[in-house]
Amino acid sequence: MRNIVVLAASACGAALCPPAAVAEPQTEQGPVATTPASADARARQTLAQMTLDEKLAMLSGISGTAAMKADPREKRIGAGFVPGVPRLAIPDLWETDAGLGVATASGVRGDFATALPSSLATAASFDPSIARAGGAMIGAEARAKGFNVLLGGGVNLVRDPWGGRAFEYYSEDPLVSGIMGGEAIAGIQSNRIISTIKHYALNPQETGRTIVDARMSREALRQSDLLAFEIGIERGQPGSVMCAYNKVLGDWACENDWLLNTVLKEDWGYRGWVMSDWGAVHSTEKAALAGLDQESGREAERQSFFHTSLREAVSSGRVPASAIDDKVLRILRMIYEHGLVDHPTPAVPTEIEFEAHADVAQRAAEAGIVLLKNQRKLLPLSPRVGRVAVIGGHANAGVLSGGGSTQVRSVGGYGAELPVFSTGPFANVVKMNYHASPPFGSIARRVGEANASFTSGADIAEAVRTARDADVAIVFATEWRAEALDRENLNLPPEQDALIKAVIEANPRTVVVLQTGGPVLMPWLDRAMAVVEAWYPGQRGGEAIARILFGEANPSARLPVTFPASADQPPRPEAPGFQQVKAYFENLFANPPKDMASIDLNGGMTSLTVDYQEGADVGYRWYARRGWKPAFAFGHGLSYSKFAYSKLELPNGVPPAVTFTLRNTSARSGAEVAQVYAASGSEVPRLVGFSKINLSGRSRQTVQIPLDWRPLSTWDEANRRWVLPQTPITISVGASSDDIRLTGTVPAR
Ligand code: BGC
Repeated sequence: MRNIVVLAASACGAALCPPAAVAEPQTEQGPVATTPASADARARQTLAQMTLDEKLAMLSGISGTAAMKADPREKRIGAGFVPGVPRLAIPDLWETDAGLGVATASGVRGDFATALPSSLATAASFDPSIARAGGAMIGAEARAKGFNVLLGGGVNLVRDPWGGRAFEYYSEDPLVSGIMGGEAIAGIQSNRIISTIKHYALNPQETGRTIVDARMSREALRQSDLLAFEIGIERGQPGSVMCAYNKVLGDWACENDWLLNTVLKEDWGYRGWVMSDWGAVHSTEKAALAGLDQESGREAERQSFFHTSLREAVSSGRVPASAIDDKVLRILRMIYEHGLVDHPTPAVPTEIEFEAHADVAQRAAEAGIVLLKNQRKLLPLSPRVGRVAVIGGHANAGVLSGGGSTQVRSVGGYGAELPVFSTGPFANVVKMNYHASPPFGSIARRVGEANASFTSGADIAEAVRTARDADVAIVFATEWRAEALDRENLNLPPEQDALIKAVIEANPRTVVVLQTGGPVLMPWLDRAMAVVEAWYPGQRGGEAIARILFGEANPSARLPVTFPASADQPPRPEAPGFQQVKAYFENLFANPPKDMASIDLNGGMTSLTVDYQEGADVGYRWYARRGWKPAFAFGHGLSYSKFAYSKLELPNGVPPAVTFTLRNTSARSGAEVAQVYAASGSEVPRLVGFSKINLSGRSRQTVQIPLDWRPLSTWDEANRRWVLPQTPITISVGASSDDIRLTGTVPAR
């Protein structure tokens, strides 16, 4: 047992605390008070006038497809719909995905939206204002398209580097995930619509996602995945929380009394509502009593658990009427608080400032592209570099995006739509979509068309010839990920490693540009002079990549996830259950079924238990615990500038902030992401604060970084509070988790 002391100061440092409640809105009739208290009062008044039928109708949503069937003239087809109560001016809820732009519902609406870079890219900026601006942009487009509930952001931790949805999430670290996710939500909601934090909780793998029983000690869960939600909810104040598909500690996440009632609603005092993921409800009475407030897309369920069944449960007294009132009150409160009544979203789409929004996407991409390696100052390239051979990655067509419910049909349409499966039932359904921002065009514009050539890389010998003839080769590699589909391993898919190796051998002045949904292995890394991680860079990605390569933008991003050095370093080399699902699909491809609906995404498995033995030691903490060196550490990222750290000051006691001096020792303006780690006793260091600081060339600044002590604390279940260890705490400040520049000690208390 560790010695512990109750955390004296507020658990969230001043600058890390949530933003204040939304500002007072104005209407033509004058100001409308939407303080939490007045929203609550209005919600109670409305509730008092509702019939049981009206209440129950608000607790069960249908899918966008069902809404379209019900009214084919309706233009707001998204992920889901919940009817309002016109006689009481309760608005319909029009729900859409989500985190990377307004998802375009497989194109059924025929519209376009601005596509941001992946959430991992946004997180790599380590700049909360980038996340907020992205959220504000998505929210503005959602509002203009008539949606009033957005289904993002996803703050699940990236526990496994092969996770299919890693690109939709922010980080392996709870502080980074909570802050960046929370800021995105606050940005979305600044448009007077509601946003939804998801997928609550412990939903790190897609393989068997609707059957997995995810297990870990409650204490470790509080310190890791739940901490990301706790911080995200404080920061973003989302109107709703989406419970996940999986089980947590034996109970489905959407009927998990501990997760929903105890942690979320009691310990965190959450005042909004819990909606289910689509098809994630498994019971009526149990779910209703455990804290689920609303079922979503009920057609996705075997039966609707909240539609007619909830009425029976209420009439027979199995679910008290007061529980129904509480659920409806939670929804109404958020409807009023976030302005859905006073500032209704338009029924007919309004105009969108696409140019300005594209700039938001480009700024996010530039802030999120990580310069992983840069030997002998190969980068930045001069526009007068000579002949440039651009190879691979469909860089002549566009930049890759991830698949699934976040897919955005970007403004201007896709530059390429490539099949994922050449045969089988999904051949025409699942596509890899490239936003039409080809890096090749942006590079050619800079060096002159005559100096730039593009080769697809399909023929390695040809690629080698063009690389050999060039002054510089830029080889693009892509790795596609999607919801419901984990990666089998961390290798770049087919032949790309061989291509990169051959190009580097042909021309050592080669820059490797990766577009990946998460960490990948780089067997050619030792020989590469320069490596850039561009993630999925969004609809201005090509231009953003070129600006980084040519030094028009100075790289300032850092890895929000560890990049393993080998396949056996991560806690699980592949998704538990992956081989079973793979075998099922191989068989299915050989014997295609007549009825697509009979396909079982769980590959015939009916249960799957995953023990998360690493507990709260996710990502860099896992590597530190084992003393292993990854290929690239959490927090790593280079700049074209150089920074020096000095004069660490730690106030007495448990410091609410650390202060130090940061100097840009180079002539070039740039931004540094300073990171503060804390460790006690034999515990591995945890990130407790970070800040991105812009410094012009040869200038210095005193930097103060507020600290959040919760990552170092334990949750005292009996007394329901965070407690800090009593042993001395080592504070380290540095440029990454493996590049510590200053250290100090907080004595034992
Ligand atoms: C996904 C959610 C998404 C929902 C609605 C589910 O399959 O897990 O993230 O919001 O669908 O599209």
